[in-house]
Amino acid sequence: MAYNVAVVGATGNVGREMLNILVEREFPLGEIHAIASRRSQGLPVSFGEKTIKCQDLATFDFSRCDFALLSAGGEVSKEWAPKIAATGCVVIDNSSAWRYDMDVPLIVPEVNADAVAGFRKKNIVANPNCSTAQLVVALKPLHDAATIRRVVVATYQSVSGAGKDAMDELWTQTKGIFVTDSPTPNVFSKQIAFNVIPHIDTFMEDGTTREEWKMVVETKKILDPKIKLTATCVRVPVFVGHSEAVNIEFERPITADEAREILREAPGMMVVDKHEDGGYVTPIDCVGEYATFVSRIREDITVENGLSLWIVSDNLRKGAALNTIQIAETIINRGLLKARKAA
Ligand SMILES: NC(=O)c1ccc[n+]([C@@H]2O[C@H](COP(=O)([O-])OP(=O)(O)OC[C@H]3O[C@@H](n4cnc5c(N)ncnc54)[C@H](OP(=O)(O)O)[C@@H]3O)[C@@H](O)[C@H]2O)c1
Repeated sequence: MAYNVAVVGATGNVGREMLNILVEREFPLGEIHAIASRRSQGLPVSFGEKTIKCQDLATFDFSRCDFALLSAGGEVSKEWAPKIAATGCVVIDNSSAWRYDMDVPLIVPEVNADAVAGFRKKNIVANPNCSTAQLVVALKPLHDAATIRRVVVATYQSVSGAGKDAMDELWTQTKGIFVTDSPTPNVFSKQIAFNVIPHIDTFMEDGTTREEWKMVVETKKILDPKIKLTATCVRVPVFVGHSEAVNIEFERPITADEAREILREAPGMMVVDKHEDGGYVTPIDCVGEYATFVSRIREDITVENGLSLWIVSDNLRKGAALNTIQIAETIINRGLLKARKAA
C-alpha cells in the first residue's frame, strides 16, 4: 500500500529532515508534496536524488493525502491542523499546539505506541518537544526496571531547535566576533556565540520557562503521571544535537551496571560508556543518527537508589522528524489506516 504524504514546513530545519528520512527509511510513499508559506511557492527542495517544488499551504488540497506532517510553528498548527484533519488526512504535528489536548495522543513509539490508536478522536497526533523525546526513550526501560520517583535534568540545547534563523544567528555572530563586529541578538535574547543562555521559550509566573514546563507535563503524559521532574533548559552554541545531564531517583535499587545492560537492550538506545578519554558521546557525534545515546552512567550515592547519566540525540531527528515518521509507520504497521489510493 502506498500513502500520500504532505510535509508542511518543508523549507525548515525539521521539514527538510522529514523529506530526507522518508527516503532513507523507504517509507511506503505514493505522492509526496512539499508545502510551505506563499513566500516559498515554487522553491525547489531536495527529495532523495530529485528536487520537488514547494506549494502554498493556503491553496493546497489535503483531501488527496493520507498524512500531513506539520512543522511550521504553533500558530500554523493551531489554525491548520483541524482544517486538514477534517479532510480525512491524518495530521502528525511537531508544534506544541496540540500536545496537551486530552483528545490528542502524544507519542514516542518506543515508549507509548499503544496510545496512538487515540488519533481517531481528532485525526491529530502530537510529537513531543525535542528534549522530552530523547529523555523518555532513555527513562522508559529504567522506569520499567526500578520505578522512577524523581528526575532532575539540565539540558544543553542546540540552536537548530529554534529554527533556521537561529542557526544563521549563531553562524553570523561567530564569524562577526573574529572581525570585531559587535554581535546583535535577534532570535535569542542575549549573544549566543561563545555564550550559554538559561532561557528557552517564554517565562511563566513561577519563574520556570515554558520549555521546562513542557518537559514536566509531556513526561507525565507519555511515560507516567506519577514521575516528578524538574528541569533547567539552556541554549548552547552548538548547531545540532541536544544534550541532557540527568539525575534519577528510583523506588527500588538499581546499579549502574544493571542500568547499562537494560539500556543496551532498549529500543532506540545506544550505550557508549567507557571510563576513559573520549569514551562518551557529544552532540557532534550524534548528528544524522537515529539513536538516542547514553554515556556517563553512574550511581549517585547522595540519594537513595540514585543514578546519573548523560543523554545526547539529534534534535532534528529523534527530537522531531524521525519521531514523526515513526508515528506514521506505527499507524500503518498496526493497520490503523488504509491508504486512500487503494480505497
Ligand atoms: N527544531 C527542532 O528541534 C524541533 C523539535 C521539535 C519540534 N519542532 C517544531 O517544529 C516546528 C518547525 O521548526 P523548524 O525548526 O523546522 O523551524 P524553521 O526552520 O524556522 O522552519 C519553519 C517552516 O515553517 C514554514 N512556515 C512558517 N510560517 C508559515 C505559514 N504561515 N504557512 C506555511 N508555512 C509556514 C516555513 O516556510 P517558509 O520558508 O516558506 O517561511 C518553514 O518551512 C516548530 O513548531 C518547532 O517548535 C522543532
